[in-house]
Amino acid sequence: MHMRTRVGIIGAGPAGLVLSLLLAMEGVDSIVLENRSREEVESTIRAGVLEQGTVDLMTEMGIDARMKREGFVHHGIELRFDGYGHRIDLTELTNGHAITVYPQHEVVKDCIAARLDQGGHIFFNVQDVRVQDVSSRHPSIHYVHEHEQMEIECDFIAGCDGFHGVARSAIPAALQKVFSRSYPFGWLGILIQAPPSCQELIYAYHERGFALVSTRSPEIQRMYIQCDPQDNIANWTDAMIIEELQTRLETKDNWQLLTGPILQKSILAMRSFVVEPMQYGNLFLAGDAAHIVPPTGAKGLNLAVADVRHLARAFALFYQKNQTNLLEEYSATCLRRIWRTEHFSWWMTSMLHRFPDDDAFQQHMQRAQLEYTVRSRASATTLAENYVGLPFTW
Ligand code: FAD
Ligand code: PHB
Repeated sequence: MHMRTRVGIIGAGPAGLVLSLLLAMEGVDSIVLENRSREEVESTIRAGVLEQGTVDLMTEMGIDARMKREGFVHHGIELRFDGYGHRIDLTELTNGHAITVYPQHEVVKDCIAARLDQGGHIFFNVQDVRVQDVSSRHPSIHYVHEHEQMEIECDFIAGCDGFHGVARSAIPAALQKVFSRSYPFGWLGILIQAPPSCQELIYAYHERGFALVSTRSPEIQRMYIQCDPQDNIANWTDAMIIEELQTRLETKDNWQLLTGPILQKSILAMRSFVVEPMQYGNLFLAGDAAHIVPPTGAKGLNLAVADVRHLARAFALFYQKNQTNLLEEYSATCLRRIWRTEHFSWWMTSMLHRFPDDDAFQQHMQRAQLEYTVRSRASATTLAENYVGLPFTW
């Protein structure tokens, strides 16, 4: 079967879905192809923190009602080390900006519902997605849906299919410049049924490793501890995880971590990755398909949203005024923000984790950086303005 659309989008994650909504606002039609089921996409637990710009864009797209009702606006975060907590006042340091804690799978649910309500096309459970002729004027996407071979002819293809997707490999290897770093640690993440132990997120540096306390709802909390990335989650009993969290988060003033049954637990590896350029012919990459950051700065989803905001504007200008300059500049425009964010995420990661080969000198360097960040207004402002997110025009 044969279909036609202006922009064929591969992947119904935050990048692909937000792109389809932004294009619809500009009157540009698109089709989204996703190889997982709607249920799976809507239940995968990932990010939790939305930058101010992401929140503003969701408001512009008219998908902010549930986020405003159920999300939590946070005006600060805590850095905790040597038994003391230090608040970074995000709002005061950034002229009134804040972050919103609202889970990625809820953003995805809101996007899917809004797009389907508009009569937009999202096809789930597609298989064997391949792109063809991306350097020609008539690129196409081929896939199998319900045992039928399908083809979509498009003007452009947006590869929003995440780090393990197929779109990136359509760029000839000789033209791809890849930059990457893997870290010698991972995160063990849990969902725990317990009331919040604190009003804002806690990022803790401890000699046994990093710990993070985040939230999902008044009844469910999200927490992470640094672990061996090769470790098997079956090696961690619930009691071990809770004890490790309590140890790493302990304070001199007897702060208590509120606990309860652990509902879900998993281990994720951490890496930094960038591919340049993000365009080849009429194929444009966006989000995790083009770059990965370690989760310490809470940036991955927000960076994906920033990419597709530029991409949607570039497509709109092309269709409305026949101008190609934003399309030509797309990769360079995005990469400026991407490298800034790569640096911030690497910096937060390096400051807060124990490295297997570190020595007393390196630990002094980390403490000196932490002390400076919480004692110097200039340094705290650097953290705050990156954490709440730089303007899209960065
Ligand atoms: P994805 O979300 O990966 O979406 C890609 C989609 O494409 C998927 O649905 C996939 O099934 C589909 N797909 C893949 N291959 C194909 C194919 N061949 N055909 C069709 N479809 C395909 N970011 C933040 O901003 N803040 C945070 O607090 C944060 N915390 C995180 C915590 C954890 C534990 C993790 C793992 C990540 C976190 N991130 C965070 C990162 C964030 O989740 C990702 O950066 C974000 O999902 C990127 O969105 P995306 O749409 O580019 O890619
Ligand atoms: C989360 O709530 O999942 C979360 C929060 C902050 C991070 C990463 C993940 O830096």
